[in-house]
Amino acid sequence: MSATSYLGKPTSRVDGRAKVTGAAKYAAEYGVPGLAHGFVITSAIAKGRITRIHTGDALAVDGVLDVFTHAHRPRMAAAHEKYGDDIAPPGAPLRPLHDDRIRFSGQPVALVVAEEAETARYAASLVRVEYERQAHVTDFEAQRGRAAVVKTGGEGHSHRRGDAKKAFAQAPVRVEAEYRMAVEHHNPMEMFGATAVWEGDGRITVYDKTQGPLNARDYVANVFAMPLEKVRVLSPYVGGGFGSGLRPQYELPLAVLAARALKRSVQVTLTRQQMFGLGYRAGNIQSLALAADRDGRLASFRHEFIGMTSQFEDFQRDYVTWSSLLYTCPNATLVQKLVKLDQNTPCDMRAPGGAEGLYAIECAMDELAYAANLDPLALRLINYSDKDQIEDRPYSSKALRECYRQAAERFGWSKRNPQPRSTKEGSELIGWGMATGIWEAMQLPASARAVLSADGNLEIASATADMGPGTYTMMAQLAADMLGVPLDNVTAKLGDSALPDAPVEGGSFTTSSVGSAIHAACRAVQKELLRLAQRAARSPLAGAKLDDVVFADGMIRRKDGSAEASLADAMRAGKVDRIEKEASTKPNEKSKYAHYTHSAVFAEVRVDEQIGVIRVTRMVSAVAAGRILNPKLAASQILGAVVGGIGMALHEETATDHRFGRYMTHNLADYHVPAHADVHAIDVIFVEEKDDEINPLGVKGVGEIGIVGTAAATANAIYHATGKRVRDLPITIDKLMRD
Ligand code: MOS
Repeated sequence: MSATSYLGKPTSRVDGRAKVTGAAKYAAEYGVPGLAHGFVITSAIAKGRITRIHTGDALAVDGVLDVFTHAHRPRMAAAHEKYGDDIAPPGAPLRPLHDDRIRFSGQPVALVVAEEAETARYAASLVRVEYERQAHVTDFEAQRGRAAVVKTGGEGHSHRRGDAKKAFAQAPVRVEAEYRMAVEHHNPMEMFGATAVWEGDGRITVYDKTQGPLNARDYVANVFAMPLEKVRVLSPYVGGGFGSGLRPQYELPLAVLAARALKRSVQVTLTRQQMFGLGYRAGNIQSLALAADRDGRLASFRHEFIGMTSQFEDFQRDYVTWSSLLYTCPNATLVQKLVKLDQNTPCDMRAPGGAEGLYAIECAMDELAYAANLDPLALRLINYSDKDQIEDRPYSSKALRECYRQAAERFGWSKRNPQPRSTKEGSELIGWGMATGIWEAMQLPASARAVLSADGNLEIASATADMGPGTYTMMAQLAADMLGVPLDNVTAKLGDSALPDAPVEGGSFTTSSVGSAIHAACRAVQKELLRLAQRAARSPLAGAKLDDVVFADGMIRRKDGSAEASLADAMRAGKVDRIEKEASTKPNEKSKYAHYTHSAVFAEVRVDEQIGVIRVTRMVSAVAAGRILNPKLAASQILGAVVGGIGMALHEETATDHRFGRYMTHNLADYHVPAHADVHAIDVIFVEEKDDEINPLGVKGVGEIGIVGTAAATANAIYHATGKRVRDLPITIDKLMRD
């Protein structure tokens, strides 16, 4: 193995030093000359109209530059479509400061801009907004009767096969239950912020907290009717996203609006409280009815999902189809519905669709296992599906059986006493539960550029983002490995709309998408290097094809080891001092296979019944996700996602006061996320899975697969510990102690 072989090795983050020393700047950390600061004022009511905004007192404050409102702002696009973005759901997107209409509590209604951030914040407290209130509807439970099927593009289609109702009635083993999940907010550590730099020549450069610099650039260009080449959006470092940065958030247009009006640079940062007015994971109610024969073979699967959306956009993901990917069942009725509420539109959050649907599916499967008197793992194996029954396609690869086997073995599942409440230690009941995870292995069109210089340095660039998973590292190590140059010689560039096109960073598809483009760009550089090397008189590589050589240790080597030439020699022979190649790749749309990642999750909980405290003491997650380029960073992805799953199971909940239609838990004291004391041993296993069909790299991508199934495994373990089935996430002390 050569010294420049990096793939599959546990490489540390190339941006680690910049992160821990603070050299990595976030969107609101760019101090440019003459920078002014904006503070946003948000709506105090959930529905109605603004009748008047009194800005006089704020404007009189020394240092205040202006107060922008719907009645006082520069020109912005009128048409809703101009505010749409790459991944906007169908509907009429929010137009910040556009008119007097209030659609949700927390909607931006004014922006105070001052020389100093503190001045802007103080002056904002002097602005008085008068409203004409209208009756709002935010109580999801009360509105569930109005849930309706909404077909939006490819999402949310109901599915029926066979006769699930009849099969249910005739089956000997049946379970029926309703599951709930609270609204959750992403809460990345970095606040949403934008620094709009006024370039003075008609161009604007924005540092924005975004998972998609191109998506953000296009949005600004559309909203302000600017040519694309006049707008540049950068997000070189992102302090967490979890989906909240996929769509442009309102700090972006507000910073640009003020910069254009004042003809100077403006920074806008939201507060933690204001971030609760952004998109969220939709709360939901899921009704499941499962039936099986006496051997545990599924006969009927019914799943109705009711989610929530805003009055102005229909947001939904695929919530109910997953069971048809995992379990063979001849009869299924799968339906998803939406309730429209006077609140902001939900947005993607940590495995949207899968994390919600699989929670209920995997808890219902656990309940079915008890009803059928079967081990929960055995029930999954009895019903294991080798094909996607919705599209009727086999999988390109599916090492889920191996996930179950390895995770169960590591966890010690065979020693489990099936009886709930059977294990106690001191005052604590101990329970073991498991669940299955599945997530799409997506790939989107992407481009990348590779530039190799004669001094041996390599630059690799793509307009993707790195919100924390380690995209810089993936890009650098992949390029280094392919061209056989030391990792230290490689610079990865991303988070800049001026770089080659890439999709938003999300959906666990960055490595498959951007990685494939890097692979193609580096292949092109390889080809050029070989061609140049063969120009030399008596080239040791004469007649060799690309497949006959390897690139390693700065050399192009014949695979049989008989001859080699250095990259530097090749460039000298070709009389060039740099080789630049750009490549674009797209997914194989003609594929006859279904592409998914899988996981098996096993959880141990300890529950002190006297005080209701639940601790997740042990978690094993075995993941099959094709080729793992960097086991260290991939494992970190799964660890983080498992922590998110523990949060979903036990902690995270955004509570609304329906009198005001307003989120009340809008800070990190009231909105609980797992802290160190909540997280114990988490064991991550990557199961070997070779998939040549999916893309030349064999990469499926990881991240979200770590959360899917985790909440269900935890909930199932709590049932096993206590004999009490709480079907309402998060499982808090009060719910566990309630009779
Ligand atoms: Mo992810 S929810 O696609 O950022």
